[in-house]
Amino acid sequence: MKSLVVYYSRTGNTQIIAEEIAKRLKGKVEKIIDKKNRNGFLNFLKAGRDGFLKKSTETQKHTNNPYDFDLLIIGTPVWAGKITPAIRVYLNQLKKDKLKHIAFLCTKSSGRTNKVFSEMEDITKEPVAVLDVNEKEIKNKSYKKKIEEFLYKIKQEISY
Ligand SMILES: Cc1cc2nc3c(=O)[nH]c(=O)nc-3n(C[C@H](O)[C@H](O)[C@H](O)COP(=O)(O)O)c2cc1C
Repeated sequence: MKSLVVYYSRTGNTQIIAEEIAKRLKGKVEKIIDKKNRNGFLNFLKAGRDGFLKKSTETQKHTNNPYDFDLLIIGTPVWAGKITPAIRVYLNQLKKDKLKHIAFLCTKSSGRTNKVFSEMEDITKEPVAVLDVNEKEIKNKSYKKKIEEFLYKIKQEISY
């Protein structure tokens, strides 16, 4: 099975999970770059506002063709209870009829993620699996078990 993990990460948490999943699936991984400066306290506040208001942004052109893959996994941090602008831009330009299978992952500090996943599904299609990981689970590495479960679910849904 050919798989591609596409993610946005401001401070590296989502990147850790995305890269580990890609490695386990022997797939490709691609980071989406937001052209807006998201560093520093003021930009952190602006990021929260952009997340809350479901703002768009400009991103660098992505390199992989998502339709070349059997499975596309999309990863985003949670911002103000929502998906990040960079990932919203990526999701919005996908042609869902051309996608084979999709799965979602998000990282967060705490809190619920059902709205995040439901927005991702509304824009694209029903995921074969979802994974949410919080900061504590990243620090103590308990995310590894969650990744196992996520990959098991994917294997059940897609025969490869
Ligand atoms: C602007 C902003 C808003 C955030 N809002 C939330 C939130 O609503 N709920 C939550 O659980 N975490 C929230 N977080 C925490 C991030 O989702 C969490 O730290 C995530 O793992 C960061 O991923 P990254 O390191 O890949 O950027 C927010 C972080 C930022 C920067």
